[in-house]
Amino acid sequence: MLVASGCADNGQNALHAQSPQSHDIAVLWWWMLGVASLVFLGACAMLVLGWFRRRSKGLPVVGENEDVNKRLVVAFGIAAPIVVLVTLFLVANVAVIKATAAPKTSSTKLTIQVIGHDWWWEVRYPGHIARTANEIHIPARTRVNVEGTTDDVIHSLWVPELNRKIDLIPGRVNRVLLYADHPGTYRGQCAEFCGLQHAHMSLYVVADDPATFQRWLANQSKPAPSTASGPAARGRQLFLANTCSSCHTIRGTKANADVGPDLTHVASRMTLAALTIDNSPADLVRWISDPQHVKPGAKMPALDLSQADFRAIAAYLESLK
Ligand code: CUA
Repeated sequence: MLVASGCADNGQNALHAQSPQSHDIAVLWWWMLGVASLVFLGACAMLVLGWFRRRSKGLPVVGENEDVNKRLVVAFGIAAPIVVLVTLFLVANVAVIKATAAPKTSSTKLTIQVIGHDWWWEVRYPGHIARTANEIHIPARTRVNVEGTTDDVIHSLWVPELNRKIDLIPGRVNRVLLYADHPGTYRGQCAEFCGLQHAHMSLYVVADDPATFQRWLANQSKPAPSTASGPAARGRQLFLANTCSSCHTIRGTKANADVGPDLTHVASRMTLAALTIDNSPADLVRWISDPQHVKPGAKMPALDLSQADFRAIAAYLESLK
């Protein structure tokens, strides 16, 4: 059951390659599994053979002469491991690493910055004012240079269907190439234990047609509307009057803090709290009214407001497409 649960198709399967880089990694994985299985089965066969031969007649494993055993030890204990391990080392550390290495910046069309936080991902598009969280939008079939760092502890950015992982290390910038063969949504996960909510530090890479991506980026670069109507108008007032605005930015308002995610276009995202819950009005109310129940340990504090106030704030945030 444990093995079968690893096969769930949640868009995060390292063997379901969606880019040339992850294809190379998957091929290497299958070769390593094949070679390791052969070695394992060979060792088992010799163990069983030796057990029967020694038991019945007191003979060596092969033939009638003990000298043959020494040659077997040299062949399978020294020569074969050297050949197998050196070959695997060369394939993995020369061929595959070359394919998955940080890209030359002259070979990429776009640079995106990803910053790890306890426990969410900040995404910036240099040259554009747009900032998003927990969703990296890229154009499909385009080489994208991703620069990763962290605001606090060590995290690791890993989108298994697209490429290898990179560690996000304080004071350093690591780079990885993101490339998607087809438009689609690819799930990623923090791959370095970073505290209580490490398991709830996930992200999506959304690969769009290049034209769709440009429209998305243009929309994300716009400020939020300067007015709101209906319940959203009251929600806007409550958001700006309470501590929400001391941690978050909504461009176009006086909220311009950067402790938590930029919410200028929060309603355009698929999930909240780094893929912990859906981005629906009901889940948003649940999240802002009792964040420590939804994601214990998160920096988001609970506010002392009524349910009607929370629903008004949610109505405002859900209007920020
Ligand atoms: Cu961030 Cu684990």
